[in-house]
Amino acid sequence: MEVVIVPDAKAGGELIAEAMAELLRRKPEAVLGVATGSTPLPVYQALAARVQAGDVDTSRARVAQLDEYVGLPAEHPESYRSVLRREVLEPLGIPAGSFLGPDGTAADISAACEAYEADLAQVGGVDLQLLGIGTDGHIGFNEPCSSLASRTRIKTLTEQTRVDNARFFDGDIDQVPQHVITQGIGTILEARHLVLLATGEGKAEAVAQTVEGPVSAFVPASALQLHRHATVVVDEPAASKLKLADYFRHTYAAKPRWQGL
Ligand code: GLP
Repeated sequence: MEVVIVPDAKAGGELIAEAMAELLRRKPEAVLGVATGSTPLPVYQALAARVQAGDVDTSRARVAQLDEYVGLPAEHPESYRSVLRREVLEPLGIPAGSFLGPDGTAADISAACEAYEADLAQVGGVDLQLLGIGTDGHIGFNEPCSSLASRTRIKTLTEQTRVDNARFFDGDIDQVPQHVITQGIGTILEARHLVLLATGEGKAEAVAQTVEGPVSAFVPASALQLHRHATVVVDEPAASKLKLADYFRHTYAAKPRWQGL
């Protein structure tokens, strides 16, 4: 995998937004896999600025959701569907009809998971999947010990993840749903390009284990080591526990710019 160390979150956002813009220039109907959480916001802001400046056309792009809470009504402001409408679809001018996501309110959750896998297959899969990382190394909502071959399914959140996400629910962990639907690790690995963004010191340990630790279900993000085109973009604090940080800096500085990410 390639590791790119950037000075701060804004620079990471610009870099990834440019990779997405490049993809859309090459393939206007590309499927962008998007993540929630605070980390990806600078990416969406930087991409929206490019759209407003007329640098890239997103009108034919499709957007695919990574994960969703179970049981939150779709119109709840913290359902990931609502978050993505607010943070991605509206600022990028992508019509609601171009959005793909699992139905977290379905009576039959297993059928909803299978339907989402079928929807992803029908659009030809995800071209670029943006990922954040949990403090425990989760991607999407694949908590530690998720099968590396897993598909979209229901998961139960760890206490730590519910504590981390309580800030979106008035700081009240009891409001954070216990269950979620998430693309599986096997599903995520089928995207043609994986781009993980991690910022802040709180992610440093998870990043080090992802990049330099063994491939292990205990650290779900370490599955990126199995992907042939995975890019990990980290700011300095998130890179602070990488043993090979100097090597990563050196190789990225020497990289031919035409290669992009
Ligand atoms: C949630 C999301 C993940 C995200 C993680 C980290 O658990 N399901 O996709 O990566 O939060 O969020 P943040 O970027 O806010 O730290």
